[in-house]
Amino acid sequence: MRILLVGATGKLGTAVHQELVERKHDVVTVSRTGGDLQYDVTDPAQVAELYQTVGQVDAVASAAGSVPFKPLAELTVQDYQAAVTGKVLSQIALVKEGLTHVTPHGSFTLITGVLTREPIVTGAAASLANGAVEAFVRAAAIEIAPQRINAVSPTVFTEALDVYGAFFPGMKPVPLADVARAYVRSIEGRQTGQIYVP
Ligand SMILES: NC(=O)c1ccc[n+]([C@@H]2O[C@H](COP(=O)([O-])OP(=O)(O)OC[C@H]3O[C@@H](n4cnc5c(N)ncnc54)[C@H](OP(=O)(O)O)[C@@H]3O)[C@@H](O)[C@H]2O)c1
Repeated sequence: MRILLVGATGKLGTAVHQELVERKHDVVTVSRTGGDLQYDVTDPAQVAELYQTVGQVDAVASAAGSVPFKPLAELTVQDYQAAVTGKVLSQIALVKEGLTHVTPHGSFTLITGVLTREPIVTGAAASLANGAVEAFVRAAAIEIAPQRINAVSPTVFTEALDVYGAFFPGMKPVPLADVARAYVRSIEGRQTGQIYVP
């Protein structure tokens, strides 16, 4: 398959890229500063331009999405807006603009995270953003068929424990290889409207 992978140079994106290449897919990698193509997916005009450049693909996979982490009392309206722009609207734009560029039975795979289900202190904006993306995935699935859409919703990555471990006390981490396999499940499988918890 020809696959557009956004956020391909990050921790998760690198693991997903490696897994997809091993499975003989043709992967076009995107980030703001690296990969095959440089675009900022928080700008809908750049997302439209990205698809014009790339043309038709069988799958779009997102491994990008930034949200601010702060104690609830310190989170400003601007912080919530940043979370919505950075993780929700960016991924919605990838779907909206991608509808005419993804093959009829092709798929979108978005990234969310455990904070939808299991809140942590300082994670309110992230929980809000992840929950919004998961609700969007379920809603979009019933309208875009036969194209498909799923989300991958991992807990903290084993490989990120050195940075984020203290924020997830007692939570079992997940190796990036397992998260990458959830993307394969979404891309190569037939399910839609699913939230995969690797
Ligand atoms: N880390 C964890 O334990 C964990 C757990 C569950 C879920 N997640 C979620 O997984 C996703 C990836 O996390 P990560 O740790 O792999 O992050 P990361 O290492 O910071 O990688 C982010 C990737 O996305 C790209 N990117 C960021 N903003 C972009 C934009 N506006 N447009 C285009 N590309 C952009 C970055 O490259 P450039 O900087 O060059 O743009 C990079 O390739 C995030 O949504 C995160 O919330 C992470």
